[in-house]
Amino acid sequence: MTELTDETVRADLVEQAATIVARYPEGRSRSALLPMLHLVQSVDGYVSPAGIAFCAEQLGITKAEVAAVATFYTMYKRRPTGEYLVSVCTNTMCGVLGGDKAYEALSEYLEVGHDQTTEDGRITLEHAECLAACDYAPVMTVNYEYFDQIDADSALTLVKQLQDGERPVPSRGARLCSFKQISRELAGFSDDRSAVADPMNGIEPTVAGNRVAEERRVSVPGYYPNTPIPKKADQDAKSAPAKAAPAKAAPAAAAPAPAAAAPAAAPAEAAASPAAKAAAATTSDEGPKTAEPAGDAAAPKTPRRRSSGPLVSATADPAKRRPAKRTPGTERSAPAVAQAPAQPAQATTDPQVKDVETPENPAETSPTVPEPAADSKPAGDAPPADPRNQNEGQK
Ligand code: FES
Repeated sequence: MTELTDETVRADLVEQAATIVARYPEGRSRSALLPMLHLVQSVDGYVSPAGIAFCAEQLGITKAEVAAVATFYTMYKRRPTGEYLVSVCTNTMCGVLGGDKAYEALSEYLEVGHDQTTEDGRITLEHAECLAACDYAPVMTVNYEYFDQIDADSALTLVKQLQDGERPVPSRGARLCSFKQISRELAGFSDDRSAVADPMNGIEPTVAGNRVAEERRVSVPGYYPNTPIPKKADQDAKSAPAKAAPAKAAPAAAAPAPAAAAPAAAPAEAAASPAAKAAAATTSDEGPKTAEPAGDAAAPKTPRRRSSGPLVSATADPAKRRPAKRTPGTERSAPAVAQAPAQPAQATTDPQVKDVETPENPAETSPTVPEPAADSKPAGDAPPADPRNQNEGQK
């Protein structure tokens, strides 16, 4: 027998369920399931079988669908919960700072384990995963109100106060209420609980990292706190001509317009330079940056795809692409390794196009890739080109 089976209680609940459903667009009533589960918890103290049937009936879904959701989230309790749900964070941060000891002390004192309720039905204990307050670790909550920087002693004191009928003041948030009351609030029916403290009180642990960074003058590379935030009007004005340009250029798209050819020419020159060759030879993300035209610093950077070209450039034979076992003296013996890097850059003069069109194996488009020297390792054992060697060669 649960309260939900009481006809009067049920009639009230039907009204409240309708209020919840009305918050969602038509045809999306099943989205109201989460708050509705909190609602039935606010009556029975857990998601009872009667509560599951109630939700299914109100939302026009099956009991199995309701149960699937109710058993997935830990905030929906499957057994009657005490007046106070005491959750101790035993995740890494809190655990090592004393959360584990606090939980053990409470478990021993209350003689209950995880998700169990004391015989008098007043307190349910659970260990919780990160409660999203690591800066105040170790933390525990009572009916989801925070008690910061606890230890075993203060946790025991807190629980004893609850047993004595007191309602200790949380570190922040609102005053304590019962589990059923907080469940109703989670269903979306606010109450008049006032805040217990200025939310900015005790903020120091949250900004401790900032303070240290300021003291040590540490900042994120490339980030300047005083960087002005551009106004939207300025941004619109800046982007307006760019948007208009394609419309004007459209009729001449078939012919190479001088203005359009200019940007392509610059990378072409850069690609012919040693720096560009070095950039083409590298497989790292850093490398290509050196190949960008020096006078085009303001141009937006095109995300570059990692290219595996140089790694397979020593041979076009797929059988030889597999990593070969390296032996001393062979790693730097293949001249093809030093010669190959320049080839990918020759596939196209447009770096943006290059990243898309350059084949994985440059040897397929570059007949000039030299074969390994006759006195090097047999072809079948040739090690794959090592980009580190290539870079050294470029230097
Ligand atoms: S680890 Fe305890 S709040 Fe995050």
